[in-house]
Amino acid sequence: MQGPKRLAVISGGTSGIGLATAARLAQDGFDLLLLGRDEERGRRAASEIAATSGVQARFLVHHSEDFDHYAVIAERVGERTVDVLVASAGTGRQEWVIDTPVDVFEHILRVNLAGPLKLVQTLRGRFSQPAAVVLVSSDAAIRGEQAIGAYSVSKAALNMLGKMLALDLAGEGVRVNVVCPGDTLPGMRYLLPPGAAERDPDDARKWPLPPRGRLGEGRDTAELIAFLVSSRADFIVGASILVDGGSRAGAPDAGRGI
Ligand SMILES: NC(=O)c1ccc[n+]([C@@H]2O[C@H](COP(=O)([O-])OP(=O)(O)OC[C@H]3O[C@@H](n4cnc5c(N)ncnc54)[C@H](OP(=O)(O)O)[C@@H]3O)[C@@H](O)[C@H]2O)c1
Repeated sequence: MQGPKRLAVISGGTSGIGLATAARLAQDGFDLLLLGRDEERGRRAASEIAATSGVQARFLVHHSEDFDHYAVIAERVGERTVDVLVASAGTGRQEWVIDTPVDVFEHILRVNLAGPLKLVQTLRGRFSQPAAVVLVSSDAAIRGEQAIGAYSVSKAALNMLGKMLALDLAGEGVRVNVVCPGDTLPGMRYLLPPGAAERDPDDARKWPLPPRGRLGEGRDTAELIAFLVSSRADFIVGASILVDGGSRAGAPDAGRGI
């Protein structure tokens, strides 16, 4: 007999890694509540997933930095419980941290770090037993990237947030874990210069290839998340897991010796 449908809430669920995760969780039968800022993009994503998978997929306009708006997410969840929460919305800027104005620095921390915390706090008490939370961090959390300094700082802190939340919520039946993608196509639109909404595909070809021999795709991280939120990952709590094709494994031998 089939049980009641499970619900996954996904911030940044309308594009890139979040969208790939939404499509993957729909394959596993999850109903979806997708959060994002762009209404047209969001409605299109929800209706395409619903049409291809048969699950219920809804969209809610949501700005991570707008802390007054989070109660609306709980309202939209309604009487249902939340089985899975994936925090994928993220922002950044190509700039050394020494040159980053503090208001910009604060904004990046607000979206990438305080936003996921506020999301978990908002849905606390609405989680099913058991439930799973996944925070989407970055390989830049493990080895910082000077070119995106504030972003690297925010993601390193997000990894620790994941561990602390894992401790706080373990007794409530909520497992929290963190995934750290490497360079993933189509690539974060919000690291682009102001005004450039979409990444030029040629741009990604300039990225160095990881040892695996290809760049990541949204589905690579989506598969990991699908595993982490499943009962197969019942004993995985407070982990930060790289999905980067080996980029952070170490420096490959370029044939010159050490
Ligand atoms: N792609 C990579 O190479 C890579 C590598 C490591 C980590 N990551 C992480 O993976 C996550 C997703 O990145 P992606 O590459 O999939 O990016 P993306 O395709 O640019 O998607 C970003 C998503 O986040 C939403 N978003 C952005 N800023 C927001 C804000 N202030 N409030 C609410 N929603 C916001 C966007 O919604 P709208 O479109 O409606 O604005 C969109 O749904 C990020 O946390 C990023 O740091 C990505």
